Amino acid sequence: MFDLTIRNGKVCTEEGVVQTDIGVTDGVIVALGTGLPAGHKDVDASGLIVLPGGIDSHCHIEQLSGMGVMTADDFQTATRSAAFGGTTTVIPFAAQRRGENLLQVVEDYSRLAREKAVIDYGFHLILSDPTEQTLAEHLPRVIKDGITSFKVYMTYESWKLDDFQLLDVLHAAGRHGAMVMVHCENNDIIRWVTRRLLNDGYTHPKYHAVAHDPLAESEATYRAVALSRLLSVPILVVHVAGLEAVRVIHAAQTMGAHIYGESCPQYLFLTADDIDQPGVEGAKFCCSPPPRDSASQQAVWDGLLGDTLQVFSSDHAPYRFDETGKLPHGEATTFKQMANGLPGIELRMPLLFSEGVNTGRMSIEKFVALTATNHAVMYGLYPRKGVIRIGSDADLALWDPALKKTVRWEMLHDAVGYTPYEGREVTGWPIAVFSRGRLVVEGGVLHAQPGDGQFLPCGEPAPIARNKKEIQQGVIVKKIFAV
Ligand code: URP
Ligand code: ZN
Ligand code: ZN
Repeated sequence: MFDLTIRNGKVCTEEGVVQTDIGVTDGVIVALGTGLPAGHKDVDASGLIVLPGGIDSHCHIEQLSGMGVMTADDFQTATRSAAFGGTTTVIPFAAQRRGENLLQVVEDYSRLAREKAVIDYGFHLILSDPTEQTLAEHLPRVIKDGITSFKVYMTYESWKLDDFQLLDVLHAAGRHGAMVMVHCENNDIIRWVTRRLLNDGYTHPKYHAVAHDPLAESEATYRAVALSRLLSVPILVVHVAGLEAVRVIHAAQTMGAHIYGESCPQYLFLTADDIDQPGVEGAKFCCSPPPRDSASQQAVWDGLLGDTLQVFSSDHAPYRFDETGKLPHGEATTFKQMANGLPGIELRMPLLFSEGVNTGRMSIEKFVALTATNHAVMYGLYPRKGVIRIGSDADLALWDPALKKTVRWEMLHDAVGYTPYEGREVTGWPIAVFSRGRLVVEGGVLHAQPGDGQFLPCGEPAPIARNKKEIQQGVIVKKIFAV
C-alpha cells in the first residue's frame, strides 16, 4: 500500500500534462498511472492540476544586507511562506562578509536552517572576500559538501568585487565545477549619479530608479559576459530587469557563450512608476536593479518565454517598512539609505500562474520549467527535485486553476508587514502542498514543523557539466587557461 495516493489530477510530468494517479512511498514517487490502489492518505485531485513543488533558487533568508540590515524573515517564516505559495525547495545564501571565514559562514547558516526550515533547502554562497585561502582551500571543501553555486556582486560597496577578483572567482568556479551567479550593475555609474542627485537635493525613493540606470545594468551584464567568455566559464545573470540586459544575454547566447539568465516577479509586474508614491511609500517597491518600464517588462516576458532567461526566482529580500528595515531614518530616509529588496517568496508562483498560464501566454509545462525544473537542472538537484517522475522526491503542489483571490498582506505567511502586490487579483492558487510525501500545507493550514526541512547537497550544475563536455569535444576553444 502506498503511503500516499493522489488520484484523478491533471499531472505535469516530463511527457506533458496527463491525467494520472501518483503513488508515493517513503517520500518518493513510486508509481504513475491510472487506477492506482488507495494509499494510507488518499487524495482526490479531481479538477486540480498537480505540479512539482516549486524551487526558489534566489532568496535571502535570515541574512544581513550589504548595508547591515537583517531580513524580516528567518528560516521558519520564509520557508512557511514559500510553502503556502507552492514552493517546496529554497536555495538561499550563506553570505560571506569581508573578513569572514567561509567555512564558519556555512556552519552558521546551516545551523539556522537546520533548526527552522519547514521545507527542503540547499545553499548558494555569497562571496565578498575571495582571498587565496578562500578560493584555494575553503571553496573546494564547500563545493564537495554540496554548495556548488555562488553569487558575486559588481555593485554594493560592501559586497562588490572588481573585475580582477571576478576573474579569480570565475577561474576557481571553472576548476571546481561551480556555477557563478552575477549581480550585474556598474557600481561607479550608480555611485556617480547618486552623488549628483543627493547634492542637488533629490532624495525621494523614485530617484533610486534614476541612479540605477538601465545602462548600469546592461554595461555590467556585457562585462560579466566578456569575463565569462574569456575563461569559458558559464555564468547566470541574476534578476535581469532591463530590455538591454536581456538583449546582451541573448546576443551572447547566439554566439554560443554559456550565459544563463534569471528574472523575478518584480520585473514582470512592477515598473519604476510604482516607486513614484507620496513620501517614502515608494520604498516598498525599491530593489536593485529596480523595476523599469513596460518595454522592459515585455522584454523579460519574451526572454522567459523564448529561453533567453531560464529561471524565474523571487529574489525574496524582505525588509520591514520601518526603522528596522527599509527606513533607517523614518520619513527622512533617502533613496540611498533605504534597504534594497522586495518580498515575493509566496507570490512568485501564483503571480506567474495567473498572468502566464491563465492568460494563455505560457503553457503549464513552461511554467513548471521556469519555476521548478530548470532550477533543479541549473543547480544540480535534478532529477531528485523539480520533476514528477518515478524515483523523484514526492514534492507536489495541488493547484486550483480557477481559485481567485485579491492579494492582501494579511493572507500571506511572511513576517514582512506589507506586499508590493497588495490589491492584485490573482487566479490560480496551490491548495495543498507535499514535501517528500509529507503534507506541508492544506486548507490554509501549515502541517509542517520547524526542522522538517532537510539540507540538499547540490551536485555539479548541469550547465557546467555540459560546458566540460563541449570543451572536451573541442566545441569551445580554450584560449588562456585550462579549467
Ligand atoms: O535589491 C535587491 N535585489 N536586494 C537583494 C540583494 C540582491 O542584490 O539580490
Ligand atoms: Zn543581487
Ligand atoms: Zn538577491
